[in-house]
Amino acid sequence: MEVIKIDGQHKLNGKVKIHGAKNATVALIPALCLADEEVILQGVPNISDVQVLAEILEFLDVEVTLKGDEFIANPKNMKNKELPNSLASKLRASYYFMGSLLGKFNEVKMKMPGGCYLGPRPINLHIKGFESLGVERIDDYDGYHLKTDSLVGSHIYLDFASVGATINIILAATKAQGITVIENAAKEPEIIDVCNLLNKMGAKIKGAGTDEITITGVDYLHSCIHEIIPDRIEAGTYLIIAAAVGENVVIDNIIPQHLDSLTSKLKEMGVNLEICEDSIVVKESFNEYKAIDVTTQTYPGFATDLQQPLTALLTKANGISKITDSIYPERFKHVLELQKMGAKVSTFMNMAIVEKNDNLNGAQVSATDLRGGAAMIVAGLMAKGITEIDNIYHIDRGYTKIDEVLSSLGAKIWREKKSDD
Ligand code: EPU
Repeated sequence: MEVIKIDGQHKLNGKVKIHGAKNATVALIPALCLADEEVILQGVPNISDVQVLAEILEFLDVEVTLKGDEFIANPKNMKNKELPNSLASKLRASYYFMGSLLGKFNEVKMKMPGGCYLGPRPINLHIKGFESLGVERIDDYDGYHLKTDSLVGSHIYLDFASVGATINIILAATKAQGITVIENAAKEPEIIDVCNLLNKMGAKIKGAGTDEITITGVDYLHSCIHEIIPDRIEAGTYLIIAAAVGENVVIDNIIPQHLDSLTSKLKEMGVNLEICEDSIVVKESFNEYKAIDVTTQTYPGFATDLQQPLTALLTKANGISKITDSIYPERFKHVLELQKMGAKVSTFMNMAIVEKNDNLNGAQVSATDLRGGAAMIVAGLMAKGITEIDNIYHIDRGYTKIDEVLSSLGAKIWREKKSDD
């Protein structure tokens, strides 16, 4: 077993270059399978989710080459096969193969997708969307066996603006006959990125980034090169880290508008931010931070993925902060871990209540999930003494070499192998 160790309370200085967005990449890779020619993605993050997706593509006879931050794939000879559970269960985004294989072959067979446990994560809206396009769920299998003779465009209203359901329906509808309209579609930047890739491949998608997306089905999708948008959650995590222990830190290669909901809250706390065209500079503030109230919402509201790292930062803020997660009401496993470090945090329903205690102590804690792991890194960097974080495979699913990036800024952070007994 490998752990991350942090010797806290060292000030950080320097520049972080943000990688391509994880939650775009994990949809772009299944999306490119709809093409019949080679597709190149640029700016791909070096995370374990990408390795698993590459293995899934190879299993489906797609040629894959990973060269630096380029992901080159040719789905010309792709075959439709039941996805092995050993791969599909490693990440949530394996559900995007439902839309992509339905679009390409009119049939898909896979078990439940995996990913972080954040409370119940149903996919009923994905299935309802596919059914509107003429797909039938066949009851011969302990998982999902979805099939149709032909996909036919339809008018779909989503009960909730789900990121996954919006993208999955777009993937299937891209090759359906006729026109599909998705109403109450999700508006996250990652959805726009997926539609931009598909349009470059020859798809006809309009309205991405609004709550009504129109897809006119096409027969053939061709080669293209696509550069992935910067990861607003990775950027947000480093902004929070810089607010916690930074002296002068530049977060570079970002789209600042994607971070408006976070930067407005950081400013309200009193974090010293300078927002530039494609970077944000965080300078040490000599005034105490103020407590804030935050509620997570769909984009452009405050991202649920930043709720957990922000909770750790708020232990520094004077007063009582309240963070409500309206997207995942049970996304609070990090709270118990923060308590082990002396944080005065408690939960009530879907809310974390954080009281100031800037004397956190290093402790043995767990990365309970991806962003919970990021919260432990924020806390470990602020705490006195050594913090040891286990289950770090969660962190490696979404952050490119986070320990190396933080070391380059002056943090005392390293990996250690431990025996499993
Ligand atoms: N929901 C349903 N039915 C559905 C789909 C969703 O009830 O069919 C509910 C969910 O239970 C949840 C809410 O709708 O309460 C939001 O779910 P959504 O479908 O929008 O999320 P997702 O597609 O499963 C993606 C990201 C998450 C991120 C959420 C919200 C990927 C692979 N995952 O998940 O990212 O938190 O959108 O923005 O893109 C992470 O990066 O750490 C992460 C968990």
